[in-house]
Amino acid sequence: MRLDKFFSEQKILSRKEVGEKLRRGLITVNGQTVKKGDVKIDETLDVVALEGVEIPYKKYTYIVVNKPQGYVCSTDDPRDMIVTELLPPELQKLELFPCGRLDKDTTGLVILTNDGISAHRNLSPKHHVEKRYRFQVADPYSEKDATAIEAGVTLADGYTTKPCKIERTGDTTGYITLTEGKYHEIKRLFGARGNKITALERVSFATIELGDLPLGQWREMTSGEVEVFRG
Ligand code: URA
Repeated sequence: MRLDKFFSEQKILSRKEVGEKLRRGLITVNGQTVKKGDVKIDETLDVVALEGVEIPYKKYTYIVVNKPQGYVCSTDDPRDMIVTELLPPELQKLELFPCGRLDKDTTGLVILTNDGISAHRNLSPKHHVEKRYRFQVADPYSEKDATAIEAGVTLADGYTTKPCKIERTGDTTGYITLTEGKYHEIKRLFGARGNKITALERVSFATIELGDLPLGQWREMTSGEVEVFRG
């Protein structure tokens, strides 16, 4: 990779800024001052430093955010606030996108990344990635409701949902784990049983947990989580 691309791809410096830093002798590769942006480096092996500070190469970024209500899972929206607005400017520059969608009124775990291949693989129905949600419904639900939803429900559009798992925590509360992500799926599952979701929060995606990340806050995935996500 060209040295100027190393900086511009990671949005650390623009090509013009790289040129200035190079001219002033502020960039080194393996300890040697380099003056030209077209120098080829091996970004996985060579040690690049800017003003004496080592810059590790990171091709992709993986972020977990706790989405509040009112934000949409999109990269651009004329009306609503978008999840990437929860990130600081230096991360907003990386053009991250949400891996899957939560409804505007759903809270909880959203993964933001620029690794399109892994995002696509995690969303593919073939991979059966488990997504767990905490829910509350308006009216008490019965064991019969839970069993019917778990087995799969034929929705108004004729689609029959894949089997899922419900863990009851109260008459109107519980956790539901899905391995697919159809539009408004959980709302439609309970709707098909004459009930209504009143609160929905995604608490995990595969083995990646929301944990105690406060609402509206973000964190980088751990290296273990990145490994899970990249498969
Ligand atoms: N199911 C829904 O109905 N809404 C979500 O946001 C996620 C799953």
